[in-house]
Amino acid sequence: MRIGVMGTGAMAAALGGAWARAGHEVFVGGRDTAAAGALAGRIGAAGHGTPAQAAGYGEAVLLAVPAGAAPALAREHAGALAGRTVVDCTNALVPGTGGVMLTTGAGQSVAGLIAAAAPGAHVVKAFNLVHVSLWDRAPVTADGAAPAVPFCADDAEAAGRVAELISGTGWSPMPAGGLDRAAYLEATAAWAIGVWWAGGSPRLALPDAPGPA
Ligand SMILES: NC(=O)c1ccc[n+]([C@@H]2O[C@H](COP(=O)([O-])OP(=O)(O)OC[C@H]3O[C@@H](n4cnc5c(N)ncnc54)[C@H](OP(=O)(O)O)[C@@H]3O)[C@@H](O)[C@H]2O)c1
Repeated sequence: MRIGVMGTGAMAAALGGAWARAGHEVFVGGRDTAAAGALAGRIGAAGHGTPAQAAGYGEAVLLAVPAGAAPALAREHAGALAGRTVVDCTNALVPGTGGVMLTTGAGQSVAGLIAAAAPGAHVVKAFNLVHVSLWDRAPVTADGAAPAVPFCADDAEAAGRVAELISGTGWSPMPAGGLDRAAYLEATAAWAIGVWWAGGSPRLALPDAPGPA
């Protein structure tokens, strides 16, 4: 798959690198094109350039920018993003009592704001739940199963592309409903980060139900 990455920071490097290692053609687009070139060289990307070039590069586009910048960036490049799978990995968080707080309003999601800003784009919420360091290598769970990446999508083709991107990195795709449920994924990230900051482990709160006795 051809994937344009908008941004040159930690998530651009981690996901862009994981997808390049999985055999995808990655193009890094940054407002600092020298930084984009350096990152492209580091992760073995197929090319680099501006955010506009990344928006128009491939079947999929990753928005790896701060949540506060993502809707405006999507609006600016709405024409190029139309018809493409746009992956939103952002979390709109600020430090608050007991961890971090969402900056979005009740029921609102960054993914929804991006979709409203670029109405022709097929927005998928994904990759926002775990720390950036986990994309260096395929992780394992205690029982040896591939850990899951939940994602929310309205468009079936876009959902299929994101499932392919997830599988290629050794994770397991977990469909989590339409984009109207993206707010739940964003709130889940806020909850999980609060638990991590307090020294806890969010996964311990979600054990499987026991089988029959
Ligand atoms: N870090 C994590 O563990 C993690 C995990 C899950 C999700 N996320 C989410 O992923 C997103 C990216 O996080 P990150 O850790 O990669 O952040 P980061 O390292 O700070 O990188 C942010 C990137 O966005 C670019 N950028 C900022 N405003 C822009 C604009 N208006 N137009 C174009 N590019 C712009 C920056 O460019 P400049 O260098 O030019 O400023 C930089 O390349 C965030 O929404 C974050 O919440 C992060």
